[in-house]
Amino acid sequence: MRGIILAGGSATRLRPLTLVSSKQLLPVYDKPMIYYPLSLLIELGLREILVISTPEHRDQYERLLGDGGRLGIRLAYTVQDEPRGLGHALLLARSFIGDEKICLALGDNLFHGPALPERLSDALRRHRGCTLFSRKVTDPEQYGVATVDGHGRVVDLAEKPERPSSNLAVTGLYFYDNDALGKAAALKPSHRGELEITDLNRAYVREGRATLVELGDDGAWFDTGTPDSLLDAAQYIRMNQQTGARPIGSPEETAFRAGLISREELERHTRPDAPAPAGRRHGLLTEPRP
Ligand code: G1P
Repeated sequence: MRGIILAGGSATRLRPLTLVSSKQLLPVYDKPMIYYPLSLLIELGLREILVISTPEHRDQYERLLGDGGRLGIRLAYTVQDEPRGLGHALLLARSFIGDEKICLALGDNLFHGPALPERLSDALRRHRGCTLFSRKVTDPEQYGVATVDGHGRVVDLAEKPERPSSNLAVTGLYFYDNDALGKAAALKPSHRGELEITDLNRAYVREGRATLVELGDDGAWFDTGTPDSLLDAAQYIRMNQQTGARPIGSPEETAFRAGLISREELERHTRPDAPAPAGRRHGLLTEPRP
């Protein structure tokens, strides 16, 4: 399975913070936002991950994260020239994905909780077709929303509906089989001119090949796309990191626990004076510009 982290978009809800900076490079407490989904994908066992950003910010991501060698993984980079939707971003990853399955993570989504890794790993083992993760929220109109039947099966999805059919928000982590590429290619732009991830997911729902896994209340989920949620996420990380034994969202520490790097490498890479990875500009895995 190949991993994709989406770090594009114009993030207008965070202006002026995002007038110059990329949203997914903004701090969530003591780390850049993208560290959190990156750590999650490493924890889930992904070893080849493509970061999709914008033409202005691609170099910054590459300088920050490098080619992944120091984490024992491989990282590649490509750009989405205009915000044409999450479905369109998936199409940019075609040659990177090849015939593999796909784990897509939105770079502004942050998941944390003691039971979470096991729950996600379990979903990954059972994965067929498309696997979505939902969370109960009080403001479902801000998200993709799932309609479920009496057995908890997903029967429909709607993107930011004015009148939500449930309080189940679809979070920004998606597992797909390789059919997602064909389905994404067949998508039509929505009224806002984007290829919507929710339309891709609906194609799986229509075929009865979508599974919805409800994330319980024992963990936390943040979409850090607004100033308030960004601050909430930062405060959550600060509090939980101070009381917990391990840093949250540290790719190096996650790589160490996964056996990908040694303790000596972990210490070397996380020293305050450690240099940025300074990635290879034209690494083997780097995607050609579309
Ligand atoms: C995107 C998706 C939406 C999903 C959300 C999760 O929305 O379109 O379906 O619920 O991510 O974070 P965005 O926050 O990019 O507007």
